[in-house]
Amino acid sequence: MEDRIKALATEVEAFTASDKQGVEQYRLKYISKKGIISELFEEMKRMPPEEKKQVGKILNELKQAAEQKLKALTEMLESSSSSSVDIDLTLPPIPNKIGNQHPLTLTRNRIIEIFERLGFNVADGPEIEDDWHNFSALNFPENHPAREMQDTFFVEKNPDMLLRTHTSNVQIRLMTKQKPPLRAIMPGRVYRNEAISARAHCFFHQVEGLYVDRNVGFADLKQTLYHFAKEMYGKDIKIRFRPSFFPFTEPSAEIDISCLICKGDGCNVCKHTGWVEIAGSGMVHPNVLKNCGIDPEEFTGFAFGMGIERVTMLRYQVNDLRLYSENDIRFLKQFHTVI
Ligand code: DAH
Repeated sequence: MEDRIKALATEVEAFTASDKQGVEQYRLKYISKKGIISELFEEMKRMPPEEKKQVGKILNELKQAAEQKLKALTEMLESSSSSSVDIDLTLPPIPNKIGNQHPLTLTRNRIIEIFERLGFNVADGPEIEDDWHNFSALNFPENHPAREMQDTFFVEKNPDMLLRTHTSNVQIRLMTKQKPPLRAIMPGRVYRNEAISARAHCFFHQVEGLYVDRNVGFADLKQTLYHFAKEMYGKDIKIRFRPSFFPFTEPSAEIDISCLICKGDGCNVCKHTGWVEIAGSGMVHPNVLKNCGIDPEEFTGFAFGMGIERVTMLRYQVNDLRLYSENDIRFLKQFHTVI
């Protein structure tokens, strides 16, 4: 009997199982009520008492070892099956959410793209500007009411410095630095001392455009902006030029496009006119060219300044300017590039 128990102990120790059935077979064979070990216990009961003691001891040891083996086999199976969970490595990964671009950035990039194809470069200039670049060089006379068209934030310690009220300052910086021919667009942030509402904000964004060369005429301005409007809003868009006044252009025009929100029927955004203003424009005033050291007899140019918020508003049908700067994720995550 003792020899049989020892042989069984080696057998149990050497037992291996690679799957559930193997482990179950092991349990049935050795540990279950009808298994070999139980049978041996039965046999042992019929033995003389003096042998029982010795056999009982090694039989109990065998039982414990067999139970431990069962535990080890089950654990091994569980850990190996958890590492071989069904993973389909050919599936595309779940994309990380990394946010998306701000609607104003999307529009600015689209504007740049359209003008770059027409040969315009991108330029920029400072947001904290001096009076000369923001006003005087642009033909705003000293103490002229035209300066009051734009409510300016001045720097308290130096009233000659201000937060630029438009991107037209970059025109001046460009024309004093480079000789014509010049063709550039200048996107950037501008500031005005205005009460914040759905239609006005104390900061917003513009894109300035400038084209100076020999023989640049108003027809070039019109054609360029027609092209822009069709690229941005599709070929059915209507565009019109309205006579206007800016100190730095002569003649000047405001540019309206047909309202995309009500399709011309009249709504709040177009103030029931069916038209929305998106830009100011005109032929660069000879004084401005002179201020920058360019001979107006030799060169002419056109310029325009477009509101990026306004363009975006019509592009995505947003009707409140404040949404752009409130950082509300529910608003911001709705925008994707549209081409
Ligand atoms: N600077 C003007 C504004 O902020 C917009 C503008 C109008 C820019 C006419 C121009 C232009 O370059 O030619 O209201």
